[in-house]
Amino acid sequence: MNMVDSFEKLPVRIYPDLKEGSKFAAKEIAALIQAKKAAGATCVLGLATGSTPRSMYAELVRMHKEEGLSFKNVVTFNLDEYYPIENDALQSYNRFMHVHLFDHIDIDPANIHIPNGEIPKERIKAHCLEYEKMIEEAGGIDLQILGIGNNGHIGFNEPGDDLPVRTHRVRLMESTRRDNAMLFDNDPSRVPAEALSMGIGTILRARRIVLVATGEKKAECIRQATGGRLMTRVPASMLQVHADVELILDREAASLI
Ligand code: PGA
Repeated sequence: MNMVDSFEKLPVRIYPDLKEGSKFAAKEIAALIQAKKAAGATCVLGLATGSTPRSMYAELVRMHKEEGLSFKNVVTFNLDEYYPIENDALQSYNRFMHVHLFDHIDIDPANIHIPNGEIPKERIKAHCLEYEKMIEEAGGIDLQILGIGNNGHIGFNEPGDDLPVRTHRVRLMESTRRDNAMLFDNDPSRVPAEALSMGIGTILRARRIVLVATGEKKAECIRQATGGRLMTRVPASMLQVHADVELILDREAASLI
């Protein structure tokens, strides 16, 4: 390393708690949907699953029900899905999205895209290529929402010597399977060993990126992701090359930066 220190920082907003941060993120999404609608355009959203974005989706559902926010001009692409998994399995990200968002809003089901955990093995490569093509044909992602794993992953781009650029099949780290075991009877061996995920390049092509993180457990990976160095062992650090990215954190997640 030929540098003693570096001072680049990603723009960070710190909120007292996740609920407040989620409200801000939901407002940003709603504003974008409405601006696109006013321009007669579709709004392409990249969406994330996990415990963190749940309250953001709850706020969007509230805005739909109470404030008439419409999702008719919205097209969505989810970051990832376990592999293999049945689409309607309790733990699938497909089901998560329907339970927390899609079943409660007026989005056209044809506009929803989630990597397919049911695809036969021999079709995976073609499916990943098609996923990339569909994003491109939709005009690219306007706003990508991200969580971050305790190990610094974004989507299911796990730490490693190198990082895949495009949508791909990935072997999950044991630590990720442990972190995600809650819905699998707390048994990491029951968490699917693999997943399909957008690549780092897919994510970085989004025009704007908003990452939401909460809690003390995320403080170290947030510190590493924002420290001014790119590290493939901290995939979220790659966000530092993007021109329009924002981190929405609570005080605990921001405690080491
Ligand atoms: P979490 O997951 O929101 O459940 O912490 C984040 C992630 O693994 O991307």
